[in-house]
Amino acid sequence: MTARTTDIEKAAGVLRAGGLVAFPTETVYGLGANAEDPAAVARIFQVKGRPPSHPLIVHLGGAEHLDDWVEDVPATARLLAEHFWPGPLTLVLRRGRRVPLEATGGLETVAVRVPDHPVALALLSAFGGGVTAPSANRFGSVSPTTANHVRAELGNAVDFVLDGGPCEVGVESTIVDTTGGTPSILRPGGVTREDLEAVLGYPLAVPTASGVRVPGQHPSHYAPRARVVLVEPEKVVAEAELAQELGHQVGVFLPASFADAPVKAHAVVAVPGSMAAYARGLYGFLRELDRQGCDLIIASLPAKEGLGLAIANRLRRAAGPRPSSTGNAPRQ
Ligand code: TXA
Ligand code: MG
Repeated sequence: MTARTTDIEKAAGVLRAGGLVAFPTETVYGLGANAEDPAAVARIFQVKGRPPSHPLIVHLGGAEHLDDWVEDVPATARLLAEHFWPGPLTLVLRRGRRVPLEATGGLETVAVRVPDHPVALALLSAFGGGVTAPSANRFGSVSPTTANHVRAELGNAVDFVLDGGPCEVGVESTIVDTTGGTPSILRPGGVTREDLEAVLGYPLAVPTASGVRVPGQHPSHYAPRARVVLVEPEKVVAEAELAQELGHQVGVFLPASFADAPVKAHAVVAVPGSMAAYARGLYGFLRELDRQGCDLIIASLPAKEGLGLAIANRLRRAAGPRPSSTGNAPRQ
């Protein structure tokens, strides 16, 4: 689906005037502002309720703009940009002078990507500059993969919502830090580790589930209202039924390998067998179980191969300790 040209022009005008525009990308919807307008960038943090130390991603209309925004681009970064842009890959590089410190949470590095979505690219082209955008959700909650998710969560706090239909990839971009000697994955996402390694020709370290590498990578994140509990795939049905008997409103992520198992629970999501379909549906499933009034979600982790690595990372964070239960765990 493509937004109308008049909508694109209007959205570009909102950005120029210092406003906020929610727009579709291939991964999730972003909450965009003019990257060079510190006041507009500050409003992003205010609307999301996100601490200002959490750095944002600058979205560019094409790899040819890279050198306008960053300095000292290593050959590895150029190679990755050439192969994966436009696409769900974010590169962390040295901050160029055009990028205000407000956008990087005070860091001397900046995350940049070229999204692979016709509406996002049309907006970036009409606007002409860089658009800094986190996922268009409130701090701590599930990222939006439709325009309705954005409207339901942010409502009038956004000046304009561009509707580009549901997001194809469904999980955020893969973030690769190319400022050190060897590139490292800071967040698994839409470009798989295997695809990166095939281009680089050497193996990459897998991020640990609990390691906090940079601000904004805390254990609890991507969380629905319902508490998420992870168990082994073969225990999902039994654990769900036990919790339901104990009085919980249980939502079940039924693994594809147990698709035929009857399960007594409040709501059941049949997890797709294909990892691409699972990633595409993941955040919608979590939102749907919240909508149906579940207070507990029982799920299991997929194998950490391909997109399974990003899905497992998001499920772990959704199940991470929360401020309400621990008193001090930060969330994004
Ligand atoms: O797919 C995506 O990446 C989406 C769409 C809208 O592009 N955006 C997104 O943004 O997921 P956000 O703000 O929810 O997550 C961006 C993450 C931050 O949490 C932070 O960990 C990391 O990017 N990041 C940004 N700048 C960084 C930097 N200079 N160094 C290390 N990590 C950085
Ligand atoms: Mg986010």
